[in-house]
Amino acid sequence: MNTAGLSRMEVVEGDITAETTDAIVNAANETLLGGGGVDGAIHRAAGPGLLEACRELDGCLPGQAKVTGGFELAARWVVHTVGPIYDALSPEDADRLLGAAYVNALLAAAEAGARSVSFPAISTGAYGFPQDRAARVAVLSVARALEMDDRIELVRFVCFSPEQAQLHQAAMDALRKL
Ligand code: APR
Repeated sequence: MNTAGLSRMEVVEGDITAETTDAIVNAANETLLGGGGVDGAIHRAAGPGLLEACRELDGCLPGQAKVTGGFELAARWVVHTVGPIYDALSPEDADRLLGAAYVNALLAAAEAGARSVSFPAISTGAYGFPQDRAARVAVLSVARALEMDDRIELVRFVCFSPEQAQLHQAAMDALRKL
């Protein structure tokens, strides 16, 4: 496949709250009022201003994205998106909604002015998406979006385990060979 998108994507292992990209993405729930997992970690690191800003947003539908400031984070913006609950949908519909969450978060970040964006592995914790399937959807949907939009210079997949990082790297390698 055209590698223009892939060349602007990288995989790291780490804690997304420490990322210094312009924007970080939060895997939130529809209320946008905080939760556990990466959502809880981002709210703790950003401080109470983030929750106040989220209260103004009136929630977010799965697959959509909304932007706030980063408050006490190094990142200037937090892009809140909501992934699918894997067991609530057919696998194909879950894939489509997960892809939409990645693409809409990326477009929202670009609209806000971000040139670099970090993603966690959306839906792979509490929302139960299989890690390997989610990594393939994440990498494919971001690569396609980057090919069509040159505002974002860097997308970083910030993985929370060596296995998760390996799956994202393998998905990128597989795409490069197509
Ligand atoms: N940095 C990077 N990744 C992280 C971090 C972190 N600090 N903390 C957790 N993760 C990873 C998890 O290991 C998992 O692979 O984020 C991925 C997503 O897991 P969840 O946070 O559970 O998100 P999700 O599956 O999308 O479920 C969303 O969880 O807490 C709630 O409010 C949230 O209800 C929503 C649901």
